[in-house]
Amino acid sequence: MPTVSMTVNGQPAAGEVEGRTLLVEFLREHLRLTGTHVGCDTSQCGACVVHVNGKSVKSCTMLAAQADGAEVTTIEGLATNGELHPMQAAFKEHHGLQCGFCTPGMVMSAVDLLNTNANPSEREIREWLEGNICRCTGYNNIVKAIQAAAGQTGG
Ligand code: FES
Ligand code: FES
Repeated sequence: MPTVSMTVNGQPAAGEVEGRTLLVEFLREHLRLTGTHVGCDTSQCGACVVHVNGKSVKSCTMLAAQADGAEVTTIEGLATNGELHPMQAAFKEHHGLQCGFCTPGMVMSAVDLLNTNANPSEREIREWLEGNICRCTGYNNIVKAIQAAAGQTGG
């Protein structure tokens, strides 16, 4: 079996995987980073979003082998020294989660959005999140949380 190695949340990570092993499987099953969720088998829900080389990626759409040598960040890697990332803090403060299942993917997507566009409009936020499904339909508070993280008043 091929060996893959990558940096995950700042730490080296390696393992033997089958050629068809998905990145999300490598993260959850080999590395036990179960904060990245699997909510569908159709690449639609976005619960599995992580960052690969700084960009948000649905980790169920990528083979572990394709991430060989990459820098991967999961929801477990966002907080620093026990302090929530500002996006996590904003989700908490603005009730951007209900059951929490979609939340890791939402937060990872939202962080990438603000890295790409520091001051998105509400429409741009909603469009960006089209690949992330919240079964609890908590979209309004998710949008408010992202607006707050972007420093927008009234968010
Ligand atoms: S588990 Fe990846 S999009 Fe649903
Ligand atoms: S908070 Fe339940 S799926 Fe989004």
